[in-house]
Amino acid sequence: MPNTKTLILIKPDGLSKSLTGNIITRFSETRLQIIAAKMVKVSQELAEQHYEMHKGKPFYDELIDYITGHLHKRHKVMAMVYFGENAIEKIRDICGNTNPEKAEPESIRGQYGRILTTGIFENVVHASDSAESAEREIKLWFEPDEIIFDIYPSEERVFTEYKKRVWKD
Ligand code: CMP
Repeated sequence: MPNTKTLILIKPDGLSKSLTGNIITRFSETRLQIIAAKMVKVSQELAEQHYEMHKGKPFYDELIDYITGHLHKRHKVMAMVYFGENAIEKIRDICGNTNPEKAEPESIRGQYGRILTTGIFENVVHASDSAESAEREIKLWFEPDEIIFDIYPSEERVFTEYKKRVWKD
């Protein structure tokens, strides 16, 4: 089985239910490696890019409100990259079906997910569904230097003028 990488997001409902520890413990059963992790305040732009394939669907606007944290008044997501043999399938098995009502009861979504009265699947975690989505999503959420080894080709570029927030002296 080949080594693959996958993007996992612990969504705002997962954080507001204090499930981070439980979720990471479940993932550790796989013996995969965590090769990047950070907390992210999700911008409208990042949300729209991440869910671009759902644009136009009836649940799209609420999905954007969900991942940006407006729905749960909890404006953060934990983003992680897992790496190892068959990572995409192993992580998706533990997450369960996207629809919490169809997810196996012992899966993360089966245990902790629900469907809101508005119809949106509040399903605690996002996990990449293919190698192509993983590459697109990892490159959206992480810069090369935030990942502990090179998983995709990268290059150094010199920027002469750019704005960046730094710590005050
Ligand atoms: P996620 O794995 O982040 O990918 C897209 C998200 O859209 C999904 O989890 C759910 O939160 C939501 N979603 C997908 N399909 C539906 C649907 N048919 N109805 C409501 N929400 C959905």
